[in-house]
Amino acid sequence: MKILMVCLGNICRSPLAHGILERLVKEKNLNWEIDSAGTGNWHIGEKPDRRSIAVAQKYGVDITNQSCRQFDITDFEKYDHILTMDQNNLSDVISLANGDDGVEKVRLFLKNGIVPDPYHDDNQFEPVYLMIEKRCKEIITELGSNR
Ligand code: 4NP
Repeated sequence: MKILMVCLGNICRSPLAHGILERLVKEKNLNWEIDSAGTGNWHIGEKPDRRSIAVAQKYGVDITNQSCRQFDITDFEKYDHILTMDQNNLSDVISLANGDDGVEKVRLFLKNGIVPDPYHDDNQFEPVYLMIEKRCKEIITELGSNR
């Protein structure tokens, strides 16, 4: 199973989803591959935002080895599930799909609603972390029998 987490900058939200799910996968001994990407190109090659690094650290998840990359159309082939943090990411990714190829793999990360962009509000990082962690646990339960 290959899962790609997508947000706008790939420095705040999707790195958290990537790091948290990767850790849960390791704990469950699942042979899954997790990655993340941004629809934007501003932060390519950078580490996650220091506020995401800090909140992840607080809960024992190390995301410091991640490096920002931009979503690429080859990701449609590589991944089984492409999960986006909000509606803009969803429509941006879908607009890159070639015909219907890959579109069926793309959906919102949350079942109901979106993960808000915390970039301009330091106080949003912890609620965003907890929201993402809760959904990652559900994803393990939902997809966990597929190794
Ligand atoms: P993210 O947050 O999409 O959760 O990584 C953002 C990070 C950077 C920018 C926007 C959103 N930016 O405009 O640089």
